[in-house]
Amino acid sequence: MVHGGANVRTRLSAAVGAANVLTEPSDVDPFLTDWRGRFHGRAVAVVRPGSAAEVAEVVRVCREEQIPIVAQGGNTGMCGGATPDETGHAVVLSLTRLNRVRGIDTDNATITVEAGVPLAQVQQAAADAGFHFPLSLASEGSCTIGGNLSTNAGGTAVLRFGNTRELVLGLEVVLADGRIWNGLRALRKDNTGYDLKQLFVGAEGTLGIITAAVLKLFPKPLARVTALAAIADPEGAVALLRLLKRGLSDRLVGFELISALALSICRKHHPDLPDPVPGHPWYALVQVDDSGTSTALNEQVEEVFAEAVESSIARDVAIAQSHEQAQALWALRENISESQRREGPNIKHDISLPVSAIPDFLRASEQALSAAFPGAQLVIFGHLGDGNLHYNLAAPPGEDAQRFMDNATRANHIVHDLVAERGGSISAEHGIGQLKREELKRYKAPVELDLMRAIKQALDPTGLLNPGKVL
Ligand code: FAD
Ligand code: MLT
Ligand code: ZN
Repeated sequence: MVHGGANVRTRLSAAVGAANVLTEPSDVDPFLTDWRGRFHGRAVAVVRPGSAAEVAEVVRVCREEQIPIVAQGGNTGMCGGATPDETGHAVVLSLTRLNRVRGIDTDNATITVEAGVPLAQVQQAAADAGFHFPLSLASEGSCTIGGNLSTNAGGTAVLRFGNTRELVLGLEVVLADGRIWNGLRALRKDNTGYDLKQLFVGAEGTLGIITAAVLKLFPKPLARVTALAAIADPEGAVALLRLLKRGLSDRLVGFELISALALSICRKHHPDLPDPVPGHPWYALVQVDDSGTSTALNEQVEEVFAEAVESSIARDVAIAQSHEQAQALWALRENISESQRREGPNIKHDISLPVSAIPDFLRASEQALSAAFPGAQLVIFGHLGDGNLHYNLAAPPGEDAQRFMDNATRANHIVHDLVAERGGSISAEHGIGQLKREELKRYKAPVELDLMRAIKQALDPTGLLNPGKVL
């Protein structure tokens, strides 16, 4: 599993301490495979620096030794971005020891955290200080803020707060030449030329190593309503979204679409979870937050849902009556991905479209895919409020799931062509990594690829930062 000169490991040990240079198979294996088990790599070593200065020293050693660097946070990415290739030439640079919350400025409503801090800990530190950090992903217990920034993660609250890109004010980054750029500014207005930090957000470790960030904090919501609505079809979902936006405006935080099949797969692996409105083809999980009283919010939300049912936009609605019930409804949604993983390999698509185009896309893609792959199962769920669907194709029942994966490229082209025709994106929130690198060439305009290559060449001329990812 581990190759490369002893000299390199000696130099890396000098930089971060021998205990933080992992080479034993049992130590390194967890870092060499992605969460889906789709990509497996090899590495010279896994290096775990404890500070930005140590990250810089590791980058300098790798530059002098011409060793590629694969940055890794919580290793929950969906596109193989944090997995080294099979050559065994690279170093995996794990950021998980950069795990300090450096400070909270309550008057400025900002928090400064190191890149290896798990998202759930950032949320907790904000809450302990009386604030709300809205980024929320089902992987928040393990993903890191550095990984969230590097993938421009989305999640379940984008409708109200935007993607990670909208939540960052400042970054500290180790550049490909080993210099540390301290851009940790806590300013909501700073018009001094190019917004450099945004180059590193969503760059997937190909332009620099993020070591710390300044993030926006928001007032803690005082009231929250969570509901699961049963709907007949995607048109109904879009109509319900329209009604909720009109009735509740920016208090609408989350609007998740769940197909009956996705829900049944989740409940198969989590039978303890509730089934409050059984027997419908589609569902919408809705979250509404407010800084007013719960009573008022409950009444307003019930009113809008009553209108939805009366006008047959929704068939039935279950509104959580307690925090525990709300959490159980969210668990129905957030455990779909992991439940699908237990079912075996599947062809994943993480697409976005204008919300208005989603019903037509779903019709056209179902037709095209059932013609191409008769009997294949469509597992559909996602952040419909932001036009983002996780549109996953699984083997027909009884067929070998691993062999069905041989259809991935053909299926990708069918789905992505239909997405591109409607002005959509082949990657809404998961990034490109190594999974979609070839697809990117097919859908990104040549001028866009040229611009991206020019930026890569300018910031990483030796190409040692996460080679084979994105471009
Ligand atoms: P990793 O997987 O370790 O790395 C991801 C990429 O970022 C790699 O290219 C890596 O090289 C790079 N990288 C990591 N840290 C740094 C750094 N400090 N500097 C430079 N580059 C770095 N994603 C969403 O957007 N929305 C969701 O709703 C969502 N739900 C998920 C649910 C589940 C169950 C799982 C398993 C994943 C989910 N994801 C989701 C995907 C994933 O959690 C996110 O992409 C997350 O942002 C990755 O963070 P990480 O720390 O695990 O990064
Ligand atoms: C989710 O929203 O659950 C994730 O993005 C994960 C996935 O697509 O599997
Ligand atoms: Zn998602």
